[in-house]
Amino acid sequence: GMKQRLLVVANRLPVSANRRGEDQWSLEISAGGLVSALLGVKDVDAKWIGWAGVNVPDEVGQRALTRALAEKRCIPVFLDEEIVHQYYNGYCNNILWPLFHYLGLPQEDRLATTRNFESQFNAYKRANQMFADVVYQHYQEGDVIWCHDYHLMFMPKCLKDHDINMKVGWFLHTPFPSSEIYRTLPSRSELLRSVLCADLVGFHTYDYARHFVSACTRILGLEGTHEGVEDQGRLTRVAAFPIGIDSERFKRALELTAVKRHINELTHRFAGRKVMLGVDRLDMIKGIPQKILAFEKFLEENPDWNDKVVLLQIAVPTRTDVPEYQKLTSQVHEIVGRINGRFGTLTAVPIHHLDRSLDFHALCALYAVTDVALVTSLRDGMNLVSYEYVACQGSRKGVLILSEFAGAAQSLGAGAILVNPWNITEVADSIRHALTMSSDEREKRHRHNYPHVTTHTAQDWAETFVCELNETVAEAQLRT
Ligand code: UDP
Ligand code: G6P
Repeated sequence: GMKQRLLVVANRLPVSANRRGEDQWSLEISAGGLVSALLGVKDVDAKWIGWAGVNVPDEVGQRALTRALAEKRCIPVFLDEEIVHQYYNGYCNNILWPLFHYLGLPQEDRLATTRNFESQFNAYKRANQMFADVVYQHYQEGDVIWCHDYHLMFMPKCLKDHDINMKVGWFLHTPFPSSEIYRTLPSRSELLRSVLCADLVGFHTYDYARHFVSACTRILGLEGTHEGVEDQGRLTRVAAFPIGIDSERFKRALELTAVKRHINELTHRFAGRKVMLGVDRLDMIKGIPQKILAFEKFLEENPDWNDKVVLLQIAVPTRTDVPEYQKLTSQVHEIVGRINGRFGTLTAVPIHHLDRSLDFHALCALYAVTDVALVTSLRDGMNLVSYEYVACQGSRKGVLILSEFAGAAQSLGAGAILVNPWNITEVADSIRHALTMSSDEREKRHRHNYPHVTTHTAQDWAETFVCELNETVAEAQLRT
C-alpha cells in the first residue's frame, strides 16, 4: 500500500551545515543519540524539519541551504542569533536540560536564570511557533507529525490549534523527572497542557512515562489511567517506547577493509595494555569527571595495573556557547592533566582525552578493540553508546560498566556491571572486576545483551510509535 507520510520535527537536523561561500554549503552528520536513532529508521516516506545549527541572515544563503538540504530530505527552520541564544542556549539547555536530568545550577547562576526566565520562555514559545509554521507549509492531510524532545514541548499545541485533525505525536529523548522536581518549573502547567494536545506521548522507559502522568495529575488535577491522561473525556495516550540502534550498520562496518585496518593499528598501538573506552558528548549529565576520578582511584589502589591499562575518553564538544559546558571542559582538562602527570611515564600516559568527534568508521574500530566500556551518566534518557558498544563486541565480548541512572540500565542491566557513578569506590572496584573477569563470565554477560541490541532496533522503535499513533487516532475517532 501507500507508505505512511511522516514529518519528523526535531530541533537538530540529522545534518549540520557549514558555510563555504555565498551560496555554497557543506553538510556533515550531527552528533547525538536523537540523530543516530532517526538515521537508523528506513522505509518510511519521511521528511525532516529542523534547525541546521547555523545562523543564515541572508536570503541567498537561505535559498542555497534549503536546496542543499532538500537532497537529504531535510527542511530548514531558520533561527536568528537572538532566538538561538534565548531559546536554545537559554531555555532548552540551561533550564530544561539540567532540570530533566536532576542537576541543579550553580548557586551563582540561579538568580540570573530566575530573572531571565520569562523572556527565555517567550523565546521558546516563539521558536516552537516557527517550527510549526514550517510544518504547516509542508503538511498534507493524513500525514503523521512526530515532534521530538524537550526543545519542542510547545509544538503539539501550536499544531492542534492550527488544525485539530493533524495526527501529532511527541517523544522525549531525555528522562522525565519526578513530579517533585518538575513542579519547580515556573512554566510547568503551560508546558504539560501543550504536550497533552498530542495524540500520543512517548518516553524511553516506563518510569519516565509514570513521572509524566503523575505530574499531570498533581499539577493539573487530571485523571491518570493505565492508557494515559484524560481531560474531559479526551484521552492523551502515554506509553514507553524504548529506542534502539541500527545494529546491522555497525556489524557491516566491522567487515570493511578500512575498519579492519584501523582495528589492527589500534591493537598494535595498545599491545600489552587493556583498553577502556568512554564516548560521550562533553555534557554534565555524562559524569565524565566522576568517571575519571574513579579511574584514578583504581590506579591508586592497583599499582600493578599502571602500565597495563589505558582509558580513551572521546569527549565530543557540544553546546559550547552555554557557560556551564565551558566550565566542564576546563574542569575535565584539569583532572586529566593532574592524573596523567601523576601516573604517566616518559613513554605512556594512562588517559587519552580527545575533545573532538570521530567519524563512524573510527568509532566502530574503537568499540571493537575495547576491553571495557565505561558509561557513567548521572542521568541519561537511554544512552545509545552502550548499545553501540555491545553491537561491536561480537568477537571480543568485552565488559560494559553502566550507570544505573541511564535508561539503558533497564535493558542491558542483566549483562552489564551496574554502578552508581557517584560512588567512585564502587566504580573503581567494578573496573578491577571488569579487567580481571573470566572469559566464561564475559561470554555469559554478552549473551544477555547482544540479542537485545540486535533485535530491539531503531527501525522497530519508529514503526511501533507511528503505528500506535495511527491506532490511537483511529480509536479516538470511533469514540466521538
Ligand atoms: N557519536 C557521534 N560522534 C562522535 C561520537 C559519538 O555522533 O564523535 C554518536 C554515538 O555514536 C551515539 C551518539 O553520538 O550514537 C550519542 O548518543 P547517546 O544516546 O549515547 O547520548 P546523547 O549524546 O544523545 O546524550
Ligand atoms: C541529546 C538530546 C538531543 C540532541 C543531542 C545533541 O541527545 O536529547 O535532542 O540533539 O543531545 O545535542 P545538541 O544540543 O547538539 O542537539
